[in-house]
Amino acid sequence: MATAVHQLSFSAPSAGARRRQSRASASASTTDRHEVLSPNRRLPLRKVPGEHGPPLLGALKDRLEYFYGPGGRDGFFAARVRAHRSTVVRLNMPPGPFVAKDPRVVALLDAASFPVLFDTSLVDKTDLFTGTFMPSTDLTGGYRVLSYVDPAEPNHAPLKSLLFHLLTHRRQHVIPTFREVYGGLFGRMENDLARVGKADFGNYNDDAAFGFLCQALLGRDPVDSPLRDEGPKLVAKWLLFQISPLLSLGLAGLPTLVEDGLLHSFRLPPALIKKDYGRLADFFRDAGKAVIDEGERLGIAREEAVHNILFAMCFNSFGGIKILFPSLVKWLGRAGGRVHGRLATEVRAAVRANGGEVTMRALAEMPLVKSAVYEALRIEPPVAMQYGRAKRDMVVESHDYGYEVREGELLFGYQPMATKDPRVFPRAEDYVPDRFLGEDGERLLRYVVWSNGPESATPTLQDKQCAGKDFVVLIARLLVAELFLRYDSFDVQVGSSPLGSSVTITSLKKATF
Ligand code: HEM
Repeated sequence: MATAVHQLSFSAPSAGARRRQSRASASASTTDRHEVLSPNRRLPLRKVPGEHGPPLLGALKDRLEYFYGPGGRDGFFAARVRAHRSTVVRLNMPPGPFVAKDPRVVALLDAASFPVLFDTSLVDKTDLFTGTFMPSTDLTGGYRVLSYVDPAEPNHAPLKSLLFHLLTHRRQHVIPTFREVYGGLFGRMENDLARVGKADFGNYNDDAAFGFLCQALLGRDPVDSPLRDEGPKLVAKWLLFQISPLLSLGLAGLPTLVEDGLLHSFRLPPALIKKDYGRLADFFRDAGKAVIDEGERLGIAREEAVHNILFAMCFNSFGGIKILFPSLVKWLGRAGGRVHGRLATEVRAAVRANGGEVTMRALAEMPLVKSAVYEALRIEPPVAMQYGRAKRDMVVESHDYGYEVREGELLFGYQPMATKDPRVFPRAEDYVPDRFLGEDGERLLRYVVWSNGPESATPTLQDKQCAGKDFVVLIARLLVAELFLRYDSFDVQVGSSPLGSSVTITSLKKATF
């Protein structure tokens, strides 16, 4: 499948062409649609179907349906695909009024059209990290941090270089620190299981993730700093101040309209979190000195480096792990005993063959672990939504049609519908741990796009692919390896939480071979 887009000059189509185009788009089943073809794959052209509705009401209606309608978020998008018989549709994305100025988007809901969002020659990514609104820079020390910066801006490349440095300058500490910190997590969960018969993975994971990141990447345990053990709670609160308009807390007893009014219609005032943020910034200013020095060599002012390091470690990394790890444990837990047995056999054989140590080499000898991690990232991409503004008039191609998009329109991709596209992935809704094994499996990796780019590509200074791509895959494999070094099998109970899954471990069967 080719990247789905081509530039097209249709700024002033002739009356005849306009008539042909509108006839072509009137129905997916008419024959005259074949008169106008997209320039790339010669697909019939269609106007993007769907309505934004009247200014305020349309946005509110879509918002309520998105958060509280049947089938939740997935149901919201699937209903529109069905209604218009199209995987590219117009709709309003939350939050809308009074947080975002303009909620109107062209939604890309298949694996063919989605990749246009990675092509920064076609889309502008300025200030679109959280979607149709950008949180106040008061929440990030007054700086527009890297995630909001387009590659065309002069500070994108130095800031991304700095984060590559952050992730690699202590690379030899990553595996031992992970094992130590997450070993502690499993110890605590075993205690809870012995005491009360169950253990909440999420809470322990928050503490472990924050401790691991600070120790591995900065060499400092936050518990020994003035943050004490409060880091994860402070970060979670700070995250809430940035993304509350996108969340549903699902609090028992809170009527939906009240939640909608409180969370989605207004921003939480940054002044309320200023002191907490100041404590986090003090920690990173001190613990991050060596990385901030490197920033200075790259031409980045010291304070700008502090807030970028904080954001990368607390929003991108901690926020990402907070969603990904429970999701991974959930899918593995549900995969059942046979899959657990295969994983345990593979992990233990690879570790034995490498002198009893978990090393990069040992991990490379765990293809099933690798595939099982990619499959979790495919079936439940931790960051589900990406945005990009069309830099010019163009045609976006789905599997079946070309769609005209105008310069300045906001393109939005709902990633789960791209990575669960049945025309790319057989049994797309099933967790198939060995999906990516072998040559055929490897070929499918280009459609795994959790990092805002294909898994087969590497992030560069010129694109917006996640700077932490390889690091994330590494630590996810480490989690699986640690789990199956210690246990033959385990059981989970799964619920939902505002940020993904809530996972309770109900049994851990200690390793017997
Ligand atoms: C599970 C963990 C993670 C997930 C799911 C994730 C996902 C993503 C996604 C989807 C984007 C693109 C957002 C957009 O522009 O639309 C992104 C960008 C980014 N991520 Fe990650 N990420 C994770 C971990 C990390 C880590 C550990 C770092 C560490 C530095 C990191 C740093 C970044 C940065 C700096 C960008 C912006 C890149 C640029 O401006 O070129 N991420 N990430």
